[in-house]
Amino acid sequence: MFNKKTINDIDVKGKKVLVRVDFNVPLKDGVISDDTRVTAALPTINYLLSQDAAVILCSHLGRPKAGPDPKFSLQPVANHLQTLIPNKVHFVDDSVGEKVEKAAGDLKPGEVLVLENTRFYPEEEKNDPVYAKKLSDLADIYVNDAFGSAHRAHASTEGVTHYKPGVAGFLLEKEIKYLSGAIENPQRPFVAILGGAKISDKIGVIKNLLTKADKVLIGGGMANTFLKARGFQMGDSLVQDEALETANEILSSGSDKLVLPKDLVIADAFEDSAAKKTIEVGDVPEHWRALDIGEETVKEFSKIIKDAGTVVWNGPMGVFEMPNFAIGTFEVAKAVADSKAVSIIGGGDSVAAIQKSGLADKVTHISTGGGASLEMLEGIALPGVAALQDK
Ligand code: 3PG
Repeated sequence: MFNKKTINDIDVKGKKVLVRVDFNVPLKDGVISDDTRVTAALPTINYLLSQDAAVILCSHLGRPKAGPDPKFSLQPVANHLQTLIPNKVHFVDDSVGEKVEKAAGDLKPGEVLVLENTRFYPEEEKNDPVYAKKLSDLADIYVNDAFGSAHRAHASTEGVTHYKPGVAGFLLEKEIKYLSGAIENPQRPFVAILGGAKISDKIGVIKNLLTKADKVLIGGGMANTFLKARGFQMGDSLVQDEALETANEILSSGSDKLVLPKDLVIADAFEDSAAKKTIEVGDVPEHWRALDIGEETVKEFSKIIKDAGTVVWNGPMGVFEMPNFAIGTFEVAKAVADSKAVSIIGGGDSVAAIQKSGLADKVTHISTGGGASLEMLEGIALPGVAALQDK
């Protein structure tokens, strides 16, 4: 259920509209290596332009710490946007102040103005009211389409709504519909697949999903901590000893739903060229470490995924950056793509895996939010969404 107003519920015709997008894209030497977040914002941008709105886009990019830094400029993203739409795209090298007010004032209906990185002002992350008001004064209407940043209560995602009541863009609406639909009203069996290095990042998610899902499959480095909590020696595997107690609590409370690997691919060094072998779950020999799930685990996970009604996947099953230890992740990607379940994938590595495997179009929804989608799976209300007007 999405109970917030969207751009469809208000009159945007000919208006000046400030849209918070999440253009936090991977950039190297000014080149964007993945423009998914830019293309995902196009339905909202194009709709507003079709209504003769003048569209002002603001976003953060990266985590600049000491004011303006050309490395984190949104100029390359504005240039890229210009290659995707026929409408004129302007860029201004600031996000508030006289220069920006002039550029916003001069902006014509059907044109776009991209503002410079909001995080060049520390006021952005501090959710400073003065900065938020200056942003809000640039436009008649505020739209939040930045699902990936909706878990941040920052000036451009939350503060601004205190001065200009906000509505959702199409991407934000779509993301929330899929994710909350999966959690609150899933087709059963509801299967969650969680991976990634650290269990500490996902404790809240595991606990919440154990109350909602029928099965929670655990792979990746975080499985090691659970296996150690079950009493196995894990050799040189990544284990979070400080989380062992929590892992134990989770094991005893959710053991009928939790599915841990039954075999592991272990290696004698943390290198793609390391010697490797598959062992049944048990003690990992000294100086060896678990770097992927084994073939039997892949089979078991794939069967559960095949029979699922809803699948939510976040986090790789092994050290996915190394081809020799990426097999478990790719096999899970394949199982998710082959499954008839409603499938939702979030988190950088699992999204990269499905994209690399060429199966992305077989997935129901690929989320543009990493942290934001995790917080939704944890059952936390996102401040950027909560701040928008109710329907
Ligand atoms: C993301 O990449 O998850 C979002 O853009 C949020 O970025 P942040 O974690 O730097 O706030």
